[in-house]
Amino acid sequence: MTFMSDGGIRQRKADHIAIAASGQANFHRPPLLDDVHLIHRSLPELAVSEIDLSTQLLGRRIAAPLLVTGMTGGTPEAAALNCELAGAAQDVGIPFGLGSQRAMLLDPSLTWTYDVRRAAPEVFLLANFGVVQLGQMTTLAVREALARVQANALCIHLNPAQEIAQPGGDRDFRGCLQTIARLCGELDLPIMIKETGCGISPAVARHLQSAGVRAIDVSGSGGTSWTAVESQRAQGADRALGLALWDWGIPTAAAIGWLTDAGLPAAGVELVASGGIRSGLDAARALALGAVAAGVAQPALKAVQDGGRDGGRAFLNQLIDGIRAAALLTGVKRAAELTRAPRVITGELREWLAQRPE
Ligand code: FNR
Repeated sequence: MTFMSDGGIRQRKADHIAIAASGQANFHRPPLLDDVHLIHRSLPELAVSEIDLSTQLLGRRIAAPLLVTGMTGGTPEAAALNCELAGAAQDVGIPFGLGSQRAMLLDPSLTWTYDVRRAAPEVFLLANFGVVQLGQMTTLAVREALARVQANALCIHLNPAQEIAQPGGDRDFRGCLQTIARLCGELDLPIMIKETGCGISPAVARHLQSAGVRAIDVSGSGGTSWTAVESQRAQGADRALGLALWDWGIPTAAAIGWLTDAGLPAAGVELVASGGIRSGLDAARALALGAVAAGVAQPALKAVQDGGRDGGRAFLNQLIDGIRAAALLTGVKRAAELTRAPRVITGELREWLAQRPE
């Protein structure tokens, strides 16, 4: 891992926010959620007020099957965004994820940029580290880093495609599974593994399950592309790899469908669907494929950039209203029952599901 000065990290974080929020690094290819058609029920025999969207994630009751996934930290701008996002998530009763905490390890004076407890004392808070970084830390150091932000759970991100596309990024991904197994065995807090927009395959999910992982956010392709973000940051010849890998990854709907068909939820692993979730209907479709919750990153960021905590809350409520509408229109009373909602799967997603690899 290349050492970055404070100035380097600051610029990188600012670039990430600006490029990701601009939408200029979106995948060209969709998450394939549009290929999931929930069957309309003209006689729902339900009142909207009876629909209970609360569910369980990582042992905690959450008000709706939704979370804001990790994005940022390390700069004053990031600190403000984190507080607004965490506040909005708390307001609607869903979890919030910090962005990678690497910056605060390199410079402990940046810890405050991850301190969202002043804005959101009750939010279900997910800490965030990259797996390669964690491999260089003792379990005690990880425990301390989690305590410093008063986290409730740890998200470990896997991002080999982004690193490969990033000049100076990580190049050695050996020993990651061992790191995950060690932390699952030694940490008291629950662990969720997340990708960062390239999806998780059944083979990888089974390794994670054997390592003791409780939840997997597939973070599939179709939303923000991190190879695209890095290609936009790189200069000259360094841009080529990120451009070539722009659309690399497993579409979100395919990843969730594969892991469900491979028996992960049945074996007790909770699935989260993120990557290209842009509406309540997208979230409902992901739930119908077997996810317990859907995750959003980029649109939540844009909502707080435009409207602060109130704007974030309004956006999240809009998503929740969309999930509730989909539940009503499929005749389902609880979020968990969306998994059993009748649906038709068409097009490209059908092909992906038919060709599930081992
Ligand atoms: C991210 N994402 C991310 N993920 C992670 O685990 N650690 C991180 O530090 C970051 N940083 C980050 C910054 C910004 C600005 C964005 C938009 C996203 C990835 C994020 O959690 C999510 O997996 C993907 O962005 C896909 O979701 P969307 O954006 O398509 O909803």
